[in-house]
Amino acid sequence: MKQLFRKKPIQDLLLNRDKDLQKTLGAFDLVLLGIGAIVGIGILVLTGMIAANYAGPSVIFSFILSAVICAFVAFCYAELASTIPASGGVYTYSYITVGELVAFLMGWAQMLMYTLAVAAVANGWSAYFVSLLEGFGLKLPKALHTDPMQGGIINIPAAAIVLLITWVLTQGAKESKRITNIMVGIKILIIVVFVAVGIFYVKPTNWMPFMPFGFKGVITGAAAVFFAFLGFDTVAATAEEVKRPQRDLPIGIIGSLIVCTILYVIVSLILTGMVSYKLLDVSDAIAFALHTVGQNVVAGIVSVGALAGITTVILAYLYAGVRMLFAISRDQLLPKAFSSMHPKTNIPTFSTWLLGLTAAALGGLVNLQALSDLINMIALLTFMMVALSVILLRKTHANLQRGFKAPLVPYLPMLVIGCCLFLMTRFASETWLYLAVWLALGMVSYYLYTKPASYEAKREKAS
Ligand code: ALA
Repeated sequence: MKQLFRKKPIQDLLLNRDKDLQKTLGAFDLVLLGIGAIVGIGILVLTGMIAANYAGPSVIFSFILSAVICAFVAFCYAELASTIPASGGVYTYSYITVGELVAFLMGWAQMLMYTLAVAAVANGWSAYFVSLLEGFGLKLPKALHTDPMQGGIINIPAAAIVLLITWVLTQGAKESKRITNIMVGIKILIIVVFVAVGIFYVKPTNWMPFMPFGFKGVITGAAAVFFAFLGFDTVAATAEEVKRPQRDLPIGIIGSLIVCTILYVIVSLILTGMVSYKLLDVSDAIAFALHTVGQNVVAGIVSVGALAGITTVILAYLYAGVRMLFAISRDQLLPKAFSSMHPKTNIPTFSTWLLGLTAAALGGLVNLQALSDLINMIALLTFMMVALSVILLRKTHANLQRGFKAPLVPYLPMLVIGCCLFLMTRFASETWLYLAVWLALGMVSYYLYTKPASYEAKREKAS
């Protein structure tokens, strides 16, 4: 029992952070990285469908509601990341505040979430890519962009983009950073272009009725657009590569969330103003709206930019997932190979390829629709644990230097826990079952391998 709740001494992390990974990131890089991870298929693919099916033009209220919950979570993340500037995100926080078993299971759940998210976003990328090719009159045979579970052979574009990004990541942090910055620039540019062109085609009559599905529609929409905000948490995962973590991490986490909320509200307002929400049940709503008003060239440009934009989400999630594997393995809760770094690039190459290849296989061969709620579910579980960690750390380590302090502790984290629990109850029983099975496998793995191997266990024995 004692071992399951064994905690990691925080001093170790504070001392260790000057070793290992290179420190190359500043506040501006982090905001860009955050936007890179957040703006993806959520706004580019899902918004239209959610407006059409759940919320109508009031999808902007759904976005605002979701953003408020995410902002509370972001405050909690910002406090923890600025207090414990170490890799591993929620895994590391719960190792310090709750104990080894919970930390391992959180890391285990995150492993699945990152892998599934990379594969799911790669699927969205593939859909945009195929429709863009079709725009040029090129038709990829359906069997080659559809997984076997839906009657195809393999989704080649989805698998290929993941493999390409994996390769880029193994080239070194500087290279990935440069590519991310360029692509995030393109992504923001296409959104600005969409808004600048679209605004001239807005017909206020399209906004009427503004709330066709009532308040209930807004709430359902808020749960559905939650996915669009996921990614700000990945900023915390870069902690050990940040030059001034206590200042830069809160700016990166909260700043990227604010920018994305503004972008989402403006885009959804223009989108539903250009075309009746009833017509928006399509997978490329933004390009579709531009086509509808006759702006075909702009639609083409926006689609190419969207591909670049979705690519950075894949990159950010792979990056964060690998950093988490690195942290778990450094604590010897996973085999050493996961944290072994390439001598030249200083990148955990084995973890990167393992995660990349698994996600590429999933993206290419599995129908992810049934599993996509699992991503939201694990994200909510993670956010609950982050909020709990803020409360616990304030109690156990009241005097630690905190670069950023979340307001209204413990009430705000408690509100986060309540909201997350409420949203989790919205999921189907299969999603709960999948989560339970995965955590049960995690328990088996913990007892068979992790518990005896743990660094903290060995240290305790030795002392
Ligand atoms: N927020 C990310 C997206 O929309 C996961 O794709």
